[in-house]
Amino acid sequence: MTYEKSKQLYERAQQVLAGGVSSEFRKFNAPHPLFYASGAGSHITDVDGNEFLDFTLSQGPLILGHSHPQVLDEVTRASATGQLFAGQHLQELELAETLQRLIPCAERMRFSLSGSEADHAALRLARALTKRPKFIRFEGQYHGWFDNVCTGVAAPNAEAAGPQELPTQVRWSAGLPEDIEDQVILLPWNDLDLVRKALRGRSHEVAAVITEPVMCNSGCIPPEPGFLAGLRTLCDETGTVLIFDEVITGFRLGLGGAQQHFGVVPDLAVFGKAMASGYPISVLAGQQRFMQPIADGTVIHAGTMNSGNPSIAAAVATLRVLETEHVHQTLFSLGQRLMDGLRKAAQETGHQVLVQGLGPMFHMGFSALERVRDFRDTWSYDKPKYAKFVAGMQDRGIRLIGRGLWYISAAHTEAEIDQAIDTARSVLKSLG
Ligand SMILES: Cc1ncc(COP(=O)(O)O)c(C=O)c1O
Repeated sequence: MTYEKSKQLYERAQQVLAGGVSSEFRKFNAPHPLFYASGAGSHITDVDGNEFLDFTLSQGPLILGHSHPQVLDEVTRASATGQLFAGQHLQELELAETLQRLIPCAERMRFSLSGSEADHAALRLARALTKRPKFIRFEGQYHGWFDNVCTGVAAPNAEAAGPQELPTQVRWSAGLPEDIEDQVILLPWNDLDLVRKALRGRSHEVAAVITEPVMCNSGCIPPEPGFLAGLRTLCDETGTVLIFDEVITGFRLGLGGAQQHFGVVPDLAVFGKAMASGYPISVLAGQQRFMQPIADGTVIHAGTMNSGNPSIAAAVATLRVLETEHVHQTLFSLGQRLMDGLRKAAQETGHQVLVQGLGPMFHMGFSALERVRDFRDTWSYDKPKYAKFVAGMQDRGIRLIGRGLWYISAAHTEAEIDQAIDTARSVLKSLG
């Protein structure tokens, strides 16, 4: 495959877009970021005419695949009536009612545009509710790019990360406020005892525990049995707000998100990505008394572009398809088939590969471990080797996320899953 046109456009882009891209994560593609021309179903095509079977799904949102006809129809219909009223509209209300029915914690909610914003609002709300200054978060998890969640995301090695019981908050960005670390208590994930210790005697300082219910931003790590329920109990005992960041798990593990899948209901939850097939929308949802400060205006949440017609319409159509076509069974079974196939391909070609996850999303990496349990285990992944694997897959028509997460959509077929497995086998062979 050649990527010549993309190369030229990327050179041109660097003269006008900072770093040539609009989001940091888009820089990391070998031999350089590609420019895409169109997407349909499970495929995406670049400007050089290369067609890829897509397992990035644009970092998760495209749960129905690219350009789903029912989504496009609904967006077109709604857009013809106006784009943004900056006032209330019926479809927004109907969407909220649907979410209230589907999501266990969603007694009340507010719409925003991105997961980062909604996470930011959730933490502000928790501080207001408890009048406490800090929050607990977990090493290697990602809650967007705003200031107070920009430490402890990606320590490169043991030396930088400090002791397991008290990880160092490695800064992920320059330009953060001086005292930002003071707001955060950083802990390893999946270790309830350390959360208990952190809360013991200090709960008067801790407003919230925020967690991805499945850790999808470093590996794809399910919670240990009892971990989420244990967090629920500890938060109840100490009057701490439990926040689930369901930006990835929401609508992907089921219509009620991870909270329904695992049977643990948080006080607040944040959703985004898969709910609107690529249109910008996120939700902060919670039990009524937890959302009250936003309802009465004590806590400010706002946004000119919130609940615009196309995004609301896209969410309505996406949820309708997810609900009526029972898409989740397909996502789980295709995901399982792909995970099993990749494991087998790795065995046949003599590579130590760890495939871990739930099906609708999972992680693949080169590691000798049998299971990855927290962020520090993910250092066992051979990242340069996986980068070679991703480049080999791209050259053979399969688009993957560089950090190892794979997303499945309703548009994928069994034949395409098998094609991906066969391609992976031949790339693995070529890696020697
Ligand atoms: C768990 C989680 N939370 C929050 C975010 C931020 O969402 P957004 O990119 O929509 O701002 C992401 C994005 O990948 C995420 O994975």
